Amino acid sequence: MLTGDRPTGPLHLGHYVGSLKMRVELQDKLECFVLLADLHVLTTRNERLDEIGDNIREVVLDYLSVGLDPKKTTIYLQSLVPEVMELFWLFMPLVGVPRAQRIPSLKEMVRDLKLETASMALLSYPILQAADILMVKGDVVPVSRDQASHVELTREIARRFNATYAPVFPEPDAPIGPMLIGTDGQAKASKSIGNVILLSDDAKTVEKRVRSMYTDPARIRADIPGRVEGNPLFLYHDSFNDDTAEVDELKERYRKGKVGDVEVKKRLAAAINRFLDPIRERRAAFESQPGLVDEIIREGSARARAECQRTLAEAREAMGLTYFRDSTTVKVSR
Ligand code: TRP
Repeated sequence: MLTGDRPTGPLHLGHYVGSLKMRVELQDKLECFVLLADLHVLTTRNERLDEIGDNIREVVLDYLSVGLDPKKTTIYLQSLVPEVMELFWLFMPLVGVPRAQRIPSLKEMVRDLKLETASMALLSYPILQAADILMVKGDVVPVSRDQASHVELTREIARRFNATYAPVFPEPDAPIGPMLIGTDGQAKASKSIGNVILLSDDAKTVEKRVRSMYTDPARIRADIPGRVEGNPLFLYHDSFNDDTAEVDELKERYRKGKVGDVEVKKRLAAAINRFLDPIRERRAAFESQPGLVDEIIREGSARARAECQRTLAEAREAMGLTYFRDSTTVKVSR
């Protein structure tokens, strides 16, 4: 398995539902890689790049706190595996420009991030992602829905490479995780919109965020029947409240107009805090060990790099790029 995140900020409950949960389950079944795609950050911004370092460390703490175990899952930093850039380049000739331009997420990123235009880096974004995936010969790539078209392109690249040169790469499957609605009722929980609850939020912040959550807009008083289906409060109850009897009972009273939103929210905040408490405890334990996160990144990246060097050598071999075999190990003398 391989998947990853761009280190653009701390992770939230949407990441948990959509992806982290699946990763934690899979790490007991498959050989797992999770990458921090810092090179991908450069495709959409060229300012405040010095923040990437802090974001990387926060995201790794998020990983550890939800139960990703660096002994089972290789957590690595994309830029510490420079071979990925070379494989990326070997893939570039396999993709036509119109094909790259058809990727729907490109237009969305230009629109959502209010970019002037798509740069060459942004146009190539999914090809670099394909290199990430195929570098470790990933065949399971759990992603959110907006990434599905990137994995589809990855499959095409693998197919074309194998047909053109020699069968080197698998065609990966992409199990799509469920999408969590935003606290404001918008389809997607997203940090840039600000409609999220962070995995690192404290109990008071969770209470505050839940208090301002959207609910059934047609329900103007607590004593009129409310709608449970599609109601963000109950979608969150379903995702995070482990007390299913309480959830069923609240739904029943809500439909009958026998419970106010205030109570539903109080119980939701309590449930989310119950869910987050063990995550907070683990985070605190990891945070109290200075240097641990950096060590995990360094070690994971070395492991991933060894794997990637093997794959790159195979790819070059398949392509017949063996005319100067040791060119990558030539030392420059000054
Ligand atoms: N594009 C992914 C995202 O923004 C991050 C990513 C980079 C990724 N390389 C990957 C995800 C490889 C899965 C596989 O979420």
